[in-house]
Amino acid sequence: MTNPPSSAYLSELFSLDGRVAVVTGGSSGIGRAIAGALARAGASVVIVARREAELAAAVADLEAYGCRAAWVSADLSSREGVRAAAEDVVKSFGEPDILVNSAGINLRPPMGELGDDVWDATMAVNLEAPFLLGERFGPGMAERGFGRIIHVSSQQAHRAFVQSGAYGVSKAGLEALARSQAEAWSPHGVTCNTLVPGFVMTPLNTRISSDPERVASLAARTMIGRNGLAEDFAGAAVFLASAASAYVTGQALFVDGGFSTH
Ligand SMILES: NC(=O)c1ccc[n+]([C@@H]2O[C@H](COP(=O)([O-])OP(=O)(O)OC[C@H]3O[C@@H](n4cnc5c(N)ncnc54)[C@H](OP(=O)(O)O)[C@@H]3O)[C@@H](O)[C@H]2O)c1
Repeated sequence: MTNPPSSAYLSELFSLDGRVAVVTGGSSGIGRAIAGALARAGASVVIVARREAELAAAVADLEAYGCRAAWVSADLSSREGVRAAAEDVVKSFGEPDILVNSAGINLRPPMGELGDDVWDATMAVNLEAPFLLGERFGPGMAERGFGRIIHVSSQQAHRAFVQSGAYGVSKAGLEALARSQAEAWSPHGVTCNTLVPGFVMTPLNTRISSDPERVASLAARTMIGRNGLAEDFAGAAVFLASAASAYVTGQALFVDGGFSTH
């Protein structure tokens, strides 16, 4: 039986067959869901994070679906760590066509108590690592005429609440980074965009998600009426990674159930 025409059309728009993707933070939460989506759409995926057991489990999950996947254990909180990780990443499937920066930390002491240590750690993981990985992989994507860079920011990039602190600043910088990268590389087929989550039930949020009242009040702030799930990012990530989004660049796509417009 031949495939129906819709299958060829959908494949032309969204298939990631033959593409190589790197997903930082791909062992947990939103990054893990995105890695799964890109892999199941056809990409060979390398995930990067620190904890090996979580990395191995995430890759085993992908392999169980018949996907091609590999992991690199690295600490993205230092420049050397990021540079070493980038060189390890290319050993599995070669230079990437798609870079997803989902690794992030969320340390939010009250502003008056925010020390150099929290500021430095937040900027290093949330903003500097995406910048350095872009510098490493962006020019090659531009030279080859295709690339997709996808960042994961936050509501706090747009408004301050629940002690945005250094976290909100890093995420606002990340969205500006996407625009700067888009300006530099879009003429060469490399689009650079940001996904903006609302409140998503992941390990990052255990402090809030263990408080049923806060969870309910955050859900009530959405239009859909529930908080986000990591899986909610699958479709948007495949779109931004695929041929379908060739004319979408420098944008922030809110995947937040209407949280930001309510
Ligand atoms: N969940 C939300 O409600 C929400 C809302 C807005 C934005 N976001 C953003 O979405 C992204 C993903 O968050 P999530 O909720 O999926 O969090 P998560 O489940 O805690 O996942 C974070 C990932 O980043 C990795 N990571 C953290 N520090 C790292 C480091 N120094 N070096 C390498 N990898 C590191 C973690 O692995 P290891 O710990 O093993 O290194 C893990 O894979 C983050 O950028 C976050 O700021 C989340």
